[in-house]
Amino acid sequence: MQTVNVAVMGHGVVGSGVVEVLLSHEKNIAAKVKNEINVKYILDLRDFPGLDYSERFIKDFDLILKDESVKVVVEVMGGIHPAYEYVKACLEAGKSVCTSNKELVAAHGAELLKIAGEKNVNFLFEASVGGGIPVLRPIAQCLSANDLYEVFGILNGTTNFILTKMIRENMAFEDALALAQQLGYAERNPSADVDGHDACRKICILASLCFGKHVYPEQVRTEGITKITLADVEYADIAGYVIKLIGYSKLLEDGKITADVYPALVPKNNQLAGVDDVFNAVMVRGDAVGDVLFYGRGAGKLPTASAVVADVIDCVKHLNARKYLSWEDGSKDYVVDSKTVKTRLYVRAYVDDILNAKTEVFSVISDAEFIVTGEDKNEVAFLTPVGVEAELKEKITSLKQLKNTSVLHVLD
Ligand code: HSE
Repeated sequence: MQTVNVAVMGHGVVGSGVVEVLLSHEKNIAAKVKNEINVKYILDLRDFPGLDYSERFIKDFDLILKDESVKVVVEVMGGIHPAYEYVKACLEAGKSVCTSNKELVAAHGAELLKIAGEKNVNFLFEASVGGGIPVLRPIAQCLSANDLYEVFGILNGTTNFILTKMIRENMAFEDALALAQQLGYAERNPSADVDGHDACRKICILASLCFGKHVYPEQVRTEGITKITLADVEYADIAGYVIKLIGYSKLLEDGKITADVYPALVPKNNQLAGVDDVFNAVMVRGDAVGDVLFYGRGAGKLPTASAVVADVIDCVKHLNARKYLSWEDGSKDYVVDSKTVKTRLYVRAYVDDILNAKTEVFSVISDAEFIVTGEDKNEVAFLTPVGVEAELKEKITSLKQLKNTSVLHVLD
């Protein structure tokens, strides 16, 4: 049995989980891989005295780069710099790389995959979407016979945890966020979660993989959950919906795509409605297979480490063979403006005069479906019929009686 040396760059929540899983499962993994996997280096600028494996820590990236015995490098530092420079250098040096870094893959995935292809090594990132859920590999391999045309889901564990706490326990937003941070779900800067950027990066990766062309984060209209109120939660409930942060992408007939992240009203009978807490779910639609739903823990130390270590195992098993992942570079006009696409909207607003407000809404949106008529609260909430988003929004803006209007999408 040969020993394959591995380096882990980053010893935060995920990195420490990766080392823990590799060390605690050493024998079982070796039996499966027919090679021993040795964690030779752990790169981190911080000191970690008193661990069983403290002697493996280094601070100099060049030790990894120049050590030809290191065949696989795990990047779990997060952020783009210096992760991008380190990963690129490792691939160019002929080392396979596994990462959980969705920010890196969403920004530079096509380029890094191309380098991996040229060097005949692997660049794998299963943990970058859906935490511990196997989703990228099944899409790339098991669903490869299909023309995929739609991919969407709950892609951020932290916001799903927060929304679940708000919906089920009436917990305040800030308390739920603090708990998610304590549990190791949230990004270093929680704005990445609550403002939707993390889900944006994940829908970029999913859309790139499903539709074959890179989607960049700046091409995705992104909205987070900070403006959701407990009133929205209550009105959605009355109408038969729950509110979830959704990443959504669809292939259009002309070969272009839509890509969005937004909080949406999800019907209670939709499978995504029952996906709670830190769990994520990804729905993929293909012409032969129909609907496929992937479900599991979307964040957290060990679920994410589980996916990273599986990639390491895959790399070690295929040291001299390229794996399946690839897609083309993106282009400027590939992602269309979603405002030109049909949707359905939920509207909540304050009104001075409830009767006049209703009359005005009906005069502009004749088949609006009122959820609350707010006689006691001077508030209305209603659903629009399906229409082109820009046209629906223009109508809503024209309604003079509505004040502090809040608009959400409906996932029907
Ligand atoms: N902060 C991320 C989440 C971690 O909550 O989903 C997993 O990508």
